[in-house]
Parts: sequence; structure tokens; C-alpha cells
Amino acid sequence: MGLKLAILASGSGSNAQTMFEAVEQGILDADIRLVFSNRLDAKVLERAKKFGIATCCLDHKAFASREDFDKKMCEVIREHGADTVAMAGYMRMVTPHFLNAFPQRVLNIHPAILPSFAGAHGARDAVNYGVKFSGCSVHFVSEEMDAGPIIIQGIVPCDQDDTEQDLQNKIHALEHRIYVQALQWLSQNRLNIQGHTVHLLPCNEDAIADNTADNTAIPSLIYSTENTQGNSSQHTPKATFLGVEHDERYPLGAMIYPPLERGF
Ligand code: GRF
Repeated sequence: MGLKLAILASGSGSNAQTMFEAVEQGILDADIRLVFSNRLDAKVLERAKKFGIATCCLDHKAFASREDFDKKMCEVIREHGADTVAMAGYMRMVTPHFLNAFPQRVLNIHPAILPSFAGAHGARDAVNYGVKFSGCSVHFVSEEMDAGPIIIQGIVPCDQDDTEQDLQNKIHALEHRIYVQALQWLSQNRLNIQGHTVHLLPCNEDAIADNTADNTAIPSLIYSTENTQGNSSQHTPKATFLGVEHDERYPLGAMIYPPLERGF
């Protein structure tokens, strides 16, 4: 059964855009009911309109409390018939009221390998710390910031000369793939939370039969000769490692776990 999805975003919305495209391409089984933003100038709103997706923008400063704002946001999401929420660059904490309205159906992406570098500046904090690897995590949202059960993570090397922007670019290239994959697993009902661990279940036979799921993993260690910084319109899979073609959208040395399935 497909997701009835609401996307929350405060900024550019490149992750949201990959979701729009994945739905169009038939690799994400979702009906995107709404893009919601708390910022009137968020570019994600324009992106959504181009895809004919409903938008709503409410300025959180106009509400007396965080909870009042979240209550209104819940109402709007429900009015649009969404049952699942993807936070993609949404720069606000959500309240327990919000999480209780969509239990185990709120996801977030964070630009670091959680639990390291939680907070608003994952890439900046990693560069300043001098780490050799960083990456991104898709997780279920809990009441504590960036601390819910992790669904999938991607890592990239952090070069000693990398600026925050360099690292952010590499991370974005992975984010665009792992978030859509995580949502597709959710739509296939394959994410089983046990304690703080998310178990990925095998796909069911119906899904295999209609070719919406596949357990054939792309090898997860990516060797590439070029870094094309994740521009999906320039997809040229041609780097080869051990006779297997790899996708040059990934930065050199990137790794994803659990591995992406065919089509992602
Ligand atoms: C991403 O790096 C995401 O991890 C973080 O905010 C950024 C949003 O980017 N939470 P975009 O708006 O999707 O381009």
C-alpha cells in the first residue's frame, strides 16, 4: 500500500524534489498529498508547485506556543489525507502532540552519522571536529532531537581540505538516494522497530511479483573515478569495480547500509 505523504521542509527542498521525481518515476510508491513549510520564502514551495503538489505555509511566529503550531500543522496534514510525514530540512523540533498523531510514521534525515553531530549544523560540526568520515542518517523521529531509531545511513570520506560546503555536497548526493529508499521500505511495510533498532524485513512476494521491490543489493562500497555531486540528471553509471558497474553520482568511497535495492 502506498504512502500518503506529507513533506515538511523549511528551505531549498532538494530532498523533497527527489521524492517528487521518484514518485513520477515509479520507484517510490507514494501519493504526496502536501508540502508544508514554516517559511514563506522556502524554495521547496516553488518546487512543489511545479509538480502540481499542494502546499501550505504557516509562520510559526504567529502562534502562541510550539504546541499550538503543531496542532494546526496536524490539522492541515490530516485535511490533506496524509498518514506519513517526511521531515526534509525542516528546522523545527516537533512536539509529542505531533508525534502521537502519526505514531511511527514520522521520518527525518540528518546530515551526519548519528548519534554523532546531532543538531542544526551536522556537516559544519563534523568538518570542525576534523573527522575522516561523515555522512547522513534517515531515522524515525522521537521526542529527543535526532535520536530516533535509525533506518539507513550513508557515509562519505571527509577530506582534510573539505569545507563545510564540500562535505555538505557529498552528503546531499547520498541523502537523495537513501531517503527515497527508506520511504519505499516504509511503504512496503518492511521496517520493524524493536527497541531502538530498525529491522529491515524481506520484501513480500506480491511486491516481487509486481516488480516494486527487489532484494538484489547494489554493492554498498562505491568506487568511483569522479564526483558528480549527486546531479541526478547526469546519471552515467560507468565506473567499474570487480566487474560491477557503479554509479558516479556517489562520491568516491561512499558506503550505504543497508544497501540500496535495485532502482535506487
Ligand atoms: C539536508 O542536509 C538534511 O539532512 C538537513 O537539511 C538539509 C536539507 O536540504 N536536515 P534540502 O532542503 O533537502 O536541500
